Amino acid sequence: MKEFKHIPVMLDEVIDGLDIKENGIYVDCTIGGGGHSSFILKRLTAGHLYGFDRDEDAISTCKERFKGEDKLTLIHANYKDAPNILNERNVNEIDGFLIDLGVSSYQIDNAERGFSILHDGRLDMRMDRSQKLDAYYVVNNYPKERLLDILYRYGEENNARKIVDNILLSRRNKPIETTGELKEIIEESFPKKVIYGKGGVSKKTFQAIRIEVNQELDGIDDLLLKLIKMLKSGGRGAVLTFHSLEDRIVKNVFKKEASDCICPPKIPVCICGHKRSIKLINKKPITASERELSENPRSSSAKLRIIEKI
Ligand SMILES: C[S@@+](CC[C@H](N)C(=O)[O-])C[C@H]1O[C@@H](n2cnc3c(N)ncnc32)[C@H](O)[C@@H]1O
Repeated sequence: MKEFKHIPVMLDEVIDGLDIKENGIYVDCTIGGGGHSSFILKRLTAGHLYGFDRDEDAISTCKERFKGEDKLTLIHANYKDAPNILNERNVNEIDGFLIDLGVSSYQIDNAERGFSILHDGRLDMRMDRSQKLDAYYVVNNYPKERLLDILYRYGEENNARKIVDNILLSRRNKPIETTGELKEIIEESFPKKVIYGKGGVSKKTFQAIRIEVNQELDGIDDLLLKLIKMLKSGGRGAVLTFHSLEDRIVKNVFKKEASDCICPPKIPVCICGHKRSIKLINKKPITASERELSENPRSSSAKLRIIEKI
């Protein structure tokens, strides 16, 4: 396995935002290389941290990194299953949670994992390599309408029609095998003068296929509701998102859970009986500082939202 390189995004903001109690129970739903978790662990004396990741490479990296650390339990699982897994271990109340959504730099930069626009590798994009569906299957087998839907919905790609036409034309001759081949097909779908920058015009299509392969938007809302339920009064939750589709889901769940009434605006008297269970620590999402932006360009699209259980 290659070295697991990933710089934790908005590290100070996340750790301060979680307001960690030294004997608290914490859950990192996306432990990755353990960047954020290492700082949570530093603040714990008698507490415990449960770290989840669906990528076996992340779990083995953290096993090595935190060897002998008895305040940490690592669990290879989809975070959708985290609340159940915790309940099965008699962990029903927690003091805080972190969800750092999306992919790690290790996954994106490693050609072998088949996510990369810049490093050619077999189309794969699975975070959990025990799963069957991969990017090769999506690109080479999905029908036209389904590909179009994915590119519009998950990539917000205006040029989806041309890109999908070119994918279909190309795969008629031979399967599209690598990220490099896909990148070329995408670039051929744009006028020469539009093709610019790092990642350039392929970014949105790659993002869309990645989201489809990993079903990345699936279950975020349900997970948030379950984790909020498990939070003790005064407990904190922090969520980092990297594109508007994710952020919209998080924003809406938090907005609803922080509201005393969720009736449609036209109803004159409240009939929903909804009671707020959290308060928003920051009304607007926190973004990376100028310094972080200059040191880690991947922080540029990050948004951090923090809540506290009432
Ligand atoms: C941005 S990285 C986290 C980096 C980590 N905070 C750090 O500082 O090293 C996101 C991680 O979430 C994992 N992940 C994404 N979706 C997941 C899911 N549904 N269940 C569990 N892990 C997931 C990815 O495999 C990846 O390792």
